[in-house]
Amino acid sequence: MTFASSLDVLARVLHIFGILIWMGHNYANVIQNPKFTPAQPADPGAMMAAMKREHGTFRYASLLVLATGLYMLWYRGILIDVLTLSGHSVVMGIGVWTGLIMIANLWFVLWPHQKRVLGFIPASDSERIRCSRITFLSSRTNSILSVVALFFMITGAHGLFLYT
Ligand code: HEM
Repeated sequence: MTFASSLDVLARVLHIFGILIWMGHNYANVIQNPKFTPAQPADPGAMMAAMKREHGTFRYASLLVLATGLYMLWYRGILIDVLTLSGHSVVMGIGVWTGLIMIANLWFVLWPHQKRVLGFIPASDSERIRCSRITFLSSRTNSILSVVALFFMITGAHGLFLYT
């Protein structure tokens, strides 16, 4: 047992922990808001503060997922094979590329609009309603993609026999 191999195990635990926080939030949102409800007038009180904290927590959990995932691939020497979908790394590669699209969707589509919904950037009520529609669709896209990522990540790690 080396320090690096222990880090690999720790990375796996943290990876799954991060996914629980990130996707747990996402799935709770599906149950709480099955249909689109436009953003309500900005509330400067405790409700908004809780939403900001919650959003920050799952946003940073996604970075934990990314960092730990990349570490495991690098440590195992399969980063390039996975990213280039080579050989049997193609299965994990599909999972990883799906995860990367989810991260990009979260940080470059959802978050810039959510900043206006949550009031980090001042916006009129009509602008906040427009942004809340985009965050809704972006979040639902990630819910769907998470099923694909989960499937290929788990079968890529433990189920390659399914593909032979
Ligand atoms: C963003 C980029 C991501 C990278 C680079 C990445 C990478 C990895 C790696 C290397 C493993 C270890 C596989 C093994 O133990 O051999 C793993 C496991 C796992 N990943 Fe990811 N991942 C990413 C995103 C995601 C996402 C978005 C999800 C879920 C929606 C996810 C869910 C999982 C799960 C559940 C496992 C455990 C598999 C198992 O041990 O059965 N990952 N990931």
